[in-house]
Amino acid sequence: MAKVVRLYELGGPENFVIEDVDPPAPGPGEVLLRNHAVGLNFYDVYERTGVYPAELPAVLGMESAGVVEALGEGVDHLSVGDRVAHGTVGGSYAEVMLAPADQLLRLPDGIAFDTAAAMMGKGMTVEPLVTRTYAVQPGDVVLFHAAAGGVGLIACQWLKAIGATVIGTVSSDEKADLARAHGCDHPVVTPRESFVDKVMDLTDGEGCPVVYDSIGRDTYDDSMKCVRRRGLLVSFGQSSGLVEPHRPNVLTGAGSIYLTRPTMGDYVVTRAELEETAQNLFDMVLAGKVRIEIGQTYPLTDVAQAHRDLEARKTKGSTVLLP
Ligand SMILES: NC(=O)c1ccc[n+]([C@@H]2O[C@H](COP(=O)([O-])OP(=O)(O)OC[C@H]3O[C@@H](n4cnc5c(N)ncnc54)[C@H](OP(=O)(O)O)[C@@H]3O)[C@@H](O)[C@H]2O)c1
Repeated sequence: MAKVVRLYELGGPENFVIEDVDPPAPGPGEVLLRNHAVGLNFYDVYERTGVYPAELPAVLGMESAGVVEALGEGVDHLSVGDRVAHGTVGGSYAEVMLAPADQLLRLPDGIAFDTAAAMMGKGMTVEPLVTRTYAVQPGDVVLFHAAAGGVGLIACQWLKAIGATVIGTVSSDEKADLARAHGCDHPVVTPRESFVDKVMDLTDGEGCPVVYDSIGRDTYDDSMKCVRRRGLLVSFGQSSGLVEPHRPNVLTGAGSIYLTRPTMGDYVVTRAELEETAQNLFDMVLAGKVRIEIGQTYPLTDVAQAHRDLEARKTKGSTVLLP
């Protein structure tokens, strides 16, 4: 038998139910994956609460690492016993899960399971954000919100490696220190300090060529003020709630700025894109340019507490659930 965390009703973390199941047999193109570590993502909160409603009953979780235990028909690029990881397959809150083989990546020996579970989805989000959504250039002054979060700490280091100057928002001095230690040049502790003022100070009143906002409702309007004329606002999440609808004229008023609302799923579409994005991430981690910070771990069966802490802004860096 194997443990799986199921959700029968959208709502609070108390709705998670721990069940014992027989490991399923993989179908064509699938593998049975034994998870050694599972990544927690804010996306899981959106699915649980109904911002992006999960189809019920559901097993949440999009990021994990483990060992291939059985192969379905037609899977020829993996073998039983391979160490693999992914950041795209739903159903990861489980000791064992079925996964489409074409979403799995062989894990380099130098990357541990918990590190992989802490970075696959988050890192493969950061890579396209800073290289393709906007190709950040050395010398760019960039604003990145939630700089001490799972995505944020990876982004700060990646931006630093490119040669950007990073301004990042955090909610405490402790998180400011952590962000600074991961490449954030100017942590701004909100709401004590104004990130708009900080951006204007550091850019001679011009604003940033790109602003990355995953907080949404609480920061969106001020983020727009931080974008320089004809710059880009990247709204890629809403941890504080959905952004209010607005007319396109608002972009004119902000300096003819551009707006995009990207999702990793539109940047990592084909197997070739998946392999390339994952390889870029592995290279950054193996070269020591991006260190993966696991701020806290929980037993998989304590996933409800992990969700409470993530929503209450108590977590730092990545959170890993241990089956
Ligand atoms: N578009 C995509 O493809 C994509 C993919 C992955 C992730 N994302 C987005 O990236 C963001 C970060 O994801 P993550 O999993 O790494 O989470 P995280 O950053 O570790 O956690 C969210 C952080 O947001 C900050 N925050 C500010 N206001 C908040 C509020 N009202 N409630 C909760 N948190 C608040 C908190 O940091 P402070 O306490 O320092 O303010 C909190 O720690 C999320 O918005 C997620 O949806 C988007």
